[in-house]
Amino acid sequence: MDAAEMKKIVAEKAVDTFVKDGMNVGLGTGSTAYFAIKRIGQLVADGFDLTCVATSVQSENLARESGIKVVDLDEVDKLDVTIDGADEVDPKMQLVKGLGGALLREKIVAAATVREVIIVDESKLVERLGTKAPLPVEVLRFGHEHTRYALERQGCTPELRMKDGSPFVTDGGNYIYDCRFPEGIANPFFLESRIDVIPGVVENGLFLNTAFDVLVSRQDGTVSRMSGEQV
Ligand code: A5P
Repeated sequence: MDAAEMKKIVAEKAVDTFVKDGMNVGLGTGSTAYFAIKRIGQLVADGFDLTCVATSVQSENLARESGIKVVDLDEVDKLDVTIDGADEVDPKMQLVKGLGGALLREKIVAAATVREVIIVDESKLVERLGTKAPLPVEVLRFGHEHTRYALERQGCTPELRMKDGSPFVTDGGNYIYDCRFPEGIANPFFLESRIDVIPGVVENGLFLNTAFDVLVSRQDGTVSRMSGEQV
């Protein structure tokens, strides 16, 4: 099974398991969430009445092209379920997100969600966060070199994310520093508390105690839930 097939089966399994007619649904961002949005579009075409909130401009455009009704987050009280990808998942279902650049909206949407369902293939599983992926940190453009220095003091090497020769700019108009920790992240909760008090930091890519469940697809074509529930 190739990488795209693994993303598709886990995305479709998550939608079919968690999305019910009449729900408010959060739409994730990234190449795995892409397949979830396409599947939700099929449900809408089949007559489901869903109200959706997107975690990025990219996902909003894809959703509208797929015939999905998209509203602003403030138009709903809460989201029943959000289906989103992740860059790393540890055994306690703690996450690193943001390599797709949408971490700020993803975290705001997750906070408004009853069931945050994460969809990954097995390549995203790690024993310790920060060992495969860098930790993305979204920062204000103003004084960002000073923010970078403060991030570096947390024991990482922060690299300004670039796109087409210029700094990558998020949907919120900010920059991202991808922070590499040589030994991974020993204590994600402590690190988050240190990063969040740095002036200039808008949001960090640690999603701690956020996942309601994580669905994982494997090379052999199976999908399992980290909560232990059946799929
Ligand atoms: C977007 O900002 C990220 O948080 C994505 O959820 C994450 O990068 C996973 O993307 P893929 O499914 O493309 O790996």
